[in-house]
Amino acid sequence: MKLITSIQEMRSFSSDAKKSGKSIAFVPTMGCLHGGHASLLKKGKELCDILVMSIFVNPIQFGPKEDYASYPRDLKRDLAIAEANKADVVFNPAAEAMYAQDFQTYIDVACLSKHLCGISRHAHFKGVATVVAKLFAIVQANIAIFGEKDYQQLLIIKAMVKDLNIDVDVVGMPIARELDGLAMSSRNNYLNNDERKAALCLHAALMKGKELFENNVKKPNIILQEMRNIIEAEPLAVVDYINVCDVNTLEDLDKIQDSALLALAVKIGKVRLIDNCILG
Ligand code: PAF
Repeated sequence: MKLITSIQEMRSFSSDAKKSGKSIAFVPTMGCLHGGHASLLKKGKELCDILVMSIFVNPIQFGPKEDYASYPRDLKRDLAIAEANKADVVFNPAAEAMYAQDFQTYIDVACLSKHLCGISRHAHFKGVATVVAKLFAIVQANIAIFGEKDYQQLLIIKAMVKDLNIDVDVVGMPIARELDGLAMSSRNNYLNNDERKAALCLHAALMKGKELFENNVKKPNIILQEMRNIIEAEPLAVVDYINVCDVNTLEDLDKIQDSALLALAVKIGKVRLIDNCILG
């Protein structure tokens, strides 16, 4: 496995690989790898000849009061996991190389970014879309793989790729969960024992919503109230949002027809967790 830190070297590596007829799968990450990332890497290895993973904690997707400085970083551990999951290249650029002093170009996927997490995390998706577009331009992959836990992010990347005619196929992978249902996330590392137990309320609420839908409850307000009751019964949990929305546009629904996205963000102590499930 090769560790590349230079943007120029990454571009040359990919150009040479493609000239020699090899396909490239790309898994962008911010490190602190877990089983969810492992499933993305596995898929990448299945789909293409060469597997590239980036590790870059992207400063411009964190708000001023968010955890950029304290975001867990452990390159040695991440490289071992990347190697065990058969990555061929880990691209790990420096923030100064990605964002020069005079950096001034941002991508705003306007409508999709307004909903769900975009309400409390104002510039977040602008930062995500911008860094992913940069990474796509550098890595030049055929396929890029993202987890469905960040469902809104996945829709935003797909819209960006379509709108800007970027030549990459975006693939979404199902949410990887711990045995007790908690969605795998780098931020789970912040939870203490009590918070880890409390965090199960996200999955419990989603399961309740799914059960109601499967029992023919199609009114979002009834589903939302039942889900909210589960979260509010947990003293360490504070709801940021719980929504029933359209799976493509993320607009709130008044009535569920065939399908819907159930999405929620909940603070467990100081840790903000997200999770979702598709109905129908
Ligand atoms: O999902 C993430 O880890 C990040 O948002 C991403 C896509 C790597 C961009 O920084």
